[in-house]
Amino acid sequence: MSITPILVIDSTGKTGRRVAARLKALGHTVREGSRQSATPFDWDQPETWGPALRGAHSAYISYSPDLGFPGADERIEALTRLAVATGLKHVVLLSGRNEAAAQRCEGIVQASGLSHTLVRAAWFNQNFSEGFLRDAVLEGTLAMPAGEVREPFVDVEDIAEVAVAALTDPRHAGKTYELSGPRLLSFAQAAAEISAAADRPLQYLPVSLADFHTGMLAVVGEPMASLFTGLCEEVLDGRNEHLSNGVQQALGRAPRDFADFCRESAREGVWAETGVAR
Ligand SMILES: NC(=O)c1ccc[n+]([C@@H]2O[C@H](COP(=O)([O-])OP(=O)(O)OC[C@H]3O[C@@H](n4cnc5c(N)ncnc54)[C@H](OP(=O)(O)O)[C@@H]3O)[C@@H](O)[C@H]2O)c1
Repeated sequence: MSITPILVIDSTGKTGRRVAARLKALGHTVREGSRQSATPFDWDQPETWGPALRGAHSAYISYSPDLGFPGADERIEALTRLAVATGLKHVVLLSGRNEAAAQRCEGIVQASGLSHTLVRAAWFNQNFSEGFLRDAVLEGTLAMPAGEVREPFVDVEDIAEVAVAALTDPRHAGKTYELSGPRLLSFAQAAAEISAAADRPLQYLPVSLADFHTGMLAVVGEPMASLFTGLCEEVLDGRNEHLSNGVQQALGRAPRDFADFCRESAREGVWAETGVAR
């Protein structure tokens, strides 16, 4: 049965890139949806959405920069309305865990009339290897407003595998999967595991939200610094300090462990001085 093309929004991002690669490996036709793709998709340019959706059977939606940021709900609403109008059959939405704004977006997808699967994810392992924390690892200090809170870091390979299952197997329609890794780790523990695997010093430095904001301001400016700080305040307040079994539910296997991620990333050289960000 042909279920293609499948639109992958954020096809250059951490999850989208892997979703697209896995779909192609399974023989599906993928329409990549990034600002650089042949059929461009830009959240800031709604006129790009229609051409990207037209004729697609289903879509993976990873919102940029974050479902928790202002305006995400309006865009998800407009996109899903357009998806219904263009005849899309199924969407898989990447969401966060327990964030009020992300849950509003989930509600919009649920009320859209589209067949859907919701994939809620914990903090990505790959934030440390190809995201905003990679530089911190290279510099040797992981300054986060996380205190001693523990997070069940999840691997984006698991997220991509769940998303692909949800895009290709109708048994996942209507399901909500909450994905976490198999262990709760404090940021101090995560830093220690990265440090051991990468064979380089890495210190966790718990900082206040105000200091985190000041640090972010120098790197990303406003409004991003305030938005990221607000997001950290929300998701690192202890509400997510529990495991969830979405990987097991969706794939029938255990999630990938943080130690495996560290070992593999170190072997690939992502934390080597001359390493290149993926
Ligand atoms: N990171 C986490 O720990 C985490 C946890 C749970 C949920 N999530 C969710 O995962 C999603 C992705 O988060 P991420 O931070 O890891 O980012 P990411 O997937 O690495 O995405 C970054 C990508 O966003 C694309 N992009 C930037 N501006 C865009 C625009 N205006 N229109 C279209 N694409 C744009 C860029 O692609 P181009 O420059 O190639 O266009 C870039 O590849 C977010 O919705 C977030 O809420 C993340």
